Amino acid sequence: MKGVILAGGTGSRLYPLTKVTNKHLLPVYDKPMIYYPMETLINAGIKDIMIVSGKGHAGHFLELLGSGVDHGVHFTYEIQDKAGGIAQALSLAEDFVDGDSVTVILGDNIFQDNIKDDVISFKNGAKIFLKEVPDAHRFGVAELKGEKVIGIEEKPKVPKTNFAVTGLYIYDSNVFEAVKTLKPSGRGELEITDVNNYYINQGFMEYGVLEGYWSDAGTFESLLRAGMLVQQHRKKDSVEIL
Ligand code: DAU
Repeated sequence: MKGVILAGGTGSRLYPLTKVTNKHLLPVYDKPMIYYPMETLINAGIKDIMIVSGKGHAGHFLELLGSGVDHGVHFTYEIQDKAGGIAQALSLAEDFVDGDSVTVILGDNIFQDNIKDDVISFKNGAKIFLKEVPDAHRFGVAELKGEKVIGIEEKPKVPKTNFAVTGLYIYDSNVFEAVKTLKPSGRGELEITDVNNYYINQGFMEYGVLEGYWSDAGTFESLLRAGMLVQQHRKKDSVEIL
């Protein structure tokens, strides 16, 4: 299993915080944002990880994370020249993934859950991770029927459920063929939701529901919320250890 952290995009919703640095280098409580998705992959037992970043400040990712030796893993770096969407950023990892399966995580998503068991038991197809939220219209939203996910809508005005599709996905190597079938969406991007709907239509999509907290951190409100969630749980965890 390979790992890919997608840290491209423009960070325009966080301007002027992102005027002279990259969104994924901003602090979330006591660590740079990208540490959280990195730790999610490492805690899942993934050792071979590619970081896809935009052109601006790419060198800062290298300086911050280095080769991975400090974490007992190996990092590979790739550049997304233009913010062509999450699926377009993922397509840049095709040679790196090289026929393996891949766990993909968005660089601005903060997870409490450990998905080690999901990674170990993954065989083929795809798996997404859902979380019930009060503001589903901000996300990809899953439509469920019994044990199955039957469709995903990207940022629907009227969500069919409260289950947000979080920025954590496991795919088999067919994902790169799926991306090649995509056309740019209304916002001019290759959408990860279209990749997921491709797998749903083929009947190869599974889902899990997260138990722990989850937040994105791409807006002022969610960045603040993510920091507070991390801080609250850090406190709780240290009390439990005492
Ligand atoms: O946070 C989860 C949501 O992330 C999902 O529910 C949505 O289905 C998914 O489309 C995405 O929604 P956003 O519109 O909030 O994604 P955003 O454009 O903020 O990008 C999230 C991360 O993806 C960003 O931190 C870096 C990476 N990215 C994004 C784009 C547009 C890239 O690496 N390259 C890109 O071109």
